[in-house]
Amino acid sequence: MGVTIERDAFCAGAKEGGHEVVRFATAKLNVHPCIGCYYCRENDGRCIYDDDMSQIYPHLLTADVIVLVTPVYYFNITAQLKGTIDRFFSVNSVLRDNPKKLFLIAACTDKDKWAMDALKANYYAMCHYLHWQEGGMVLAFGASTRKDVENSECKKMAKNLAAQL
Ligand SMILES: Cc1cc2nc3c(=O)[nH]c(=O)nc-3n(C[C@H](O)[C@H](O)[C@H](O)COP(=O)(O)O)c2cc1C
Repeated sequence: MGVTIERDAFCAGAKEGGHEVVRFATAKLNVHPCIGCYYCRENDGRCIYDDDMSQIYPHLLTADVIVLVTPVYYFNITAQLKGTIDRFFSVNSVLRDNPKKLFLIAACTDKDKWAMDALKANYYAMCHYLHWQEGGMVLAFGASTRKDVENSECKKMAKNLAAQL
């Protein structure tokens, strides 16, 4: 997995800087997609689904920094990550009142810069809507294999970005 090289470099930089790092693998979690039922609006931000989001919420609400890590699937973040972000909806108002820094780490096969335009637009929109600071992005283009990322500047960039937290 190429993007995990960037992720591990970021985590290593953050830990070296004395920060606590908590990771969630959205592809391995049981997170039901938001169905827009608005149950949360009537129930103090509690979602109708009691699933693995219960592991994520406490950290999501208290973390100073959120890092989205994803391979590019059809010019966007993976469905698993999107499904998890959609579930932020139930705690939107708390998130919007709690300043955080957001980072984006991604990898794709394409070498053309436009291949990640949708991801970037999504990232900027999230920062704007949630009132979170743009921490930065590490985007690996032309990354089909682990070796491609290993040999790119992205590994160093990810570590340096985390060192500035
Ligand atoms: C379902 C699927 C969709 C993909 N869509 C794109 C795409 O739209 N653009 C692209 O450049 N690469 C695409 N790829 C390739 C991956 O983004 C690329 O191999 C990436 O480096 C994988 O990272 P990973 O090895 O960490 O999983 C796709 C791969 C899969 C499996």
